[in-house]
Amino acid sequence: MPARKQMSCRYLWLGLVGSPLMAGCVQSPLSTMAPASEVARSVATLWWSMAAGTGVILLLMVVLALWALRLNPPQSPHRRGVRVLLIAGGLILPSVTIILLLAFGLRLNEAQWPPQARAEAQEAFHVDVIAHQWWWEMRYPGLESRTVNVLHVPAGVPIHLRIMSNDVIHGFWVPRVSGKLDAVPGRINRLRLFVDEPGEYAGVCVEYCGEGHASMPFTLVAHPADNREALQQAVRRAAQ
Ligand code: CUA
Repeated sequence: MPARKQMSCRYLWLGLVGSPLMAGCVQSPLSTMAPASEVARSVATLWWSMAAGTGVILLLMVVLALWALRLNPPQSPHRRGVRVLLIAGGLILPSVTIILLLAFGLRLNEAQWPPQARAEAQEAFHVDVIAHQWWWEMRYPGLESRTVNVLHVPAGVPIHLRIMSNDVIHGFWVPRVSGKLDAVPGRINRLRLFVDEPGEYAGVCVEYCGEGHASMPFTLVAHPADNREALQQAVRRAAQ
């Protein structure tokens, strides 16, 4: 087998063996591909659609490359073939792909504000999230309590967060539940969440904020919506 064919076979095998290994990342606590809310689900759907589309295009390119390698003796394509390739591959394919992605992106933008999250403020559960170097403070208006590195919320209820910073820029992110939002000194950034099911969801700081940046993980604990008492007790216990 010629050397270049051996090389392409090796890469093909690497791809085939590597793909199932990468699938292990899907179920990690910080995986956006294990969504627990409508917003996160829409992001995961876009990701899978893009991965599938990229996979199909990559496969097409590999087939074309292998086909070209197999031409023996090598020959340059006809003029007409070149024109077809340029128009189909250089104009039509990218245009269709970009239009589809734009349509998906616009739908996703709408999904970032699901009807439940647009609910009136008085129906929502409010928490003030304040970032510090290098920890998170959660204040619960009405409960007169605060927790550190744990955000207690009810599931199935709109949650309104006011995200602030006490020092430098930090980034709030619970990948399975919502998109990212920066905590900026002197500003109040608002993030609305809606967690489908009770459970614990991992969160991290996603803006480099100094040497302790990596030690700023936190947990979002979603309690059953019909047991507000349990939530309040958990907050008070943590606050002691
Ligand atoms: Cu806080 Cu990075």
